[in-house]
Amino acid sequence: MDITPSPINAVGSVSLACHPGVFLVEQDYEIILLCGCPAMASVVVDGRTFTDSINGVMRSDTDVHKIKVPTSLLDKAKAYRVHITPLADHCNYYPKPSPTEAYEYDFTPVPAEGEVKAYVLADTHGQVTVPAETALAHGNFDLLLLLGDIGDSAATKEQVTTLHHLTSAITGGRFPTVYVRGNHDTRGYMAEHLHEYIPTRSGATYYTFRTGSVWGVVLDCGEDKPDTNIEYGLPETGGVADFLPFRNAQTDYLRSLVENADNTYKAEGITRRIALCHINFTYTDRPFNDKNPTLYEKWIGWLNEIGIDMLICGHEHRVGLQPDDYFHGNPTPQFGTLLTSAHCDHPKPMGGGHASGEFTGTALTFTEDGVKYVFTNHKGEELDFS
Ligand SMILES: [Fe+2]
Repeated sequence: MDITPSPINAVGSVSLACHPGVFLVEQDYEIILLCGCPAMASVVVDGRTFTDSINGVMRSDTDVHKIKVPTSLLDKAKAYRVHITPLADHCNYYPKPSPTEAYEYDFTPVPAEGEVKAYVLADTHGQVTVPAETALAHGNFDLLLLLGDIGDSAATKEQVTTLHHLTSAITGGRFPTVYVRGNHDTRGYMAEHLHEYIPTRSGATYYTFRTGSVWGVVLDCGEDKPDTNIEYGLPETGGVADFLPFRNAQTDYLRSLVENADNTYKAEGITRRIALCHINFTYTDRPFNDKNPTLYEKWIGWLNEIGIDMLICGHEHRVGLQPDDYFHGNPTPQFGTLLTSAHCDHPKPMGGGHASGEFTGTALTFTEDGVKYVFTNHKGEELDFS
C-alpha cells in the first residue's frame, strides 16, 4: 500500500497527510486534499491553476481542501500537480507562507469506450487496512465506489478522514472515486461539517456523475429510522434528524433529471446507467420505509423511467442480489438491488456475519450486455454462492 505523499521539490516538509482523492461529481472531479497543518492549496492541470479560495481569499485556516477541475480537462491531461503552501498565521499584514510543496500525480481516467471495471466497498466503519487490502487484492479496476458508512460515525476527525486515507491507500490519487454518504456518516459532532470533507454538488450529497460509458446517480436516504426516533433526540422538542425534506428534494432532483434526459442519462455514448445509495430503500420492511412508503415509490418510479440497470447499495453488511419480493409498493422496481460489502470472508448471500481481519467487496464490470458482478474477499478470492 503506497500511502505516503512525497513532494517533487526539496522543501523539507510534507504537509499532505495522504494522497489526493479524485472524486466524480457531475461534470467535474472534486480533488480533496487532506493536510496535516493549516495551508493554502491549488491544483494545476495542463497549465491551468485551480485554487481553493472563497470570494477572492485563499483558504488557509483548514486542514482539508476541495478543488474542482473539469473531467474533460483532467481526462485529457492525464496528470495533475498539487501545490500546498503552509501558512501558520493568516495575519492582517505581511503573512509569511512557508515554501510551497509540489506533488505530481499521473492520472488514468476511466476508458472513454468499452468495458468499465469498478470495485465497491461499503460499511468499512473506520477500517482502512483490511478493506484496502480487499480492493487491492482484486486489482485491475478503473473506478472505486465507496458506498457509505466509511467512518463509523462523524463524531471525530479520525473517523471522518477514514474516507481520505482509504481512498489514498487504494487509488494513490491516480484514478477516480465515487463517494456516497451512509447513515453512520450523519451521526456525531462533525456531521454538520461533513460537507467540508466529502465531495458534494454545492453542498448536496446527491448528484450525478458520468465516466466513460457509465452514468450514475448518487442518492442519500440519510438515517435509517424516522426523524422522530428517540436515537436522534426528543420527539417533543425535535431531534437532530431532518431527513424528510432532504429526501423530498431528491424526488424533485430525480424528476429534473428525467425532464433533462438528453443532457443527463441519455447523453451520447452512455450505455450503462446505475443508481448508488447506501441504504437499500427497495427493502420495504424497514421502519424508515414504513413512514415514507410513497416517497420511495416515487424514487423507484423515476429510476424506472431513467431505466437504470441496477441499484447498488451497502448498509446491510451482506452481499448478494436482494430478492425482488422485498419491495411491497407500487410501482415495483424494474431493476435489481445489489448488496455489496460484508465483514467476513465467506458470507452467505443474505446471511451476514462478522470476522476480525476479514472483508468482502464487489467487483463490477459494465459491459454492453449489462452489469456483471463478483464478490471477492481480502485474499482476492472470488466467493461462489452457487
Ligand atoms: Fe449503514
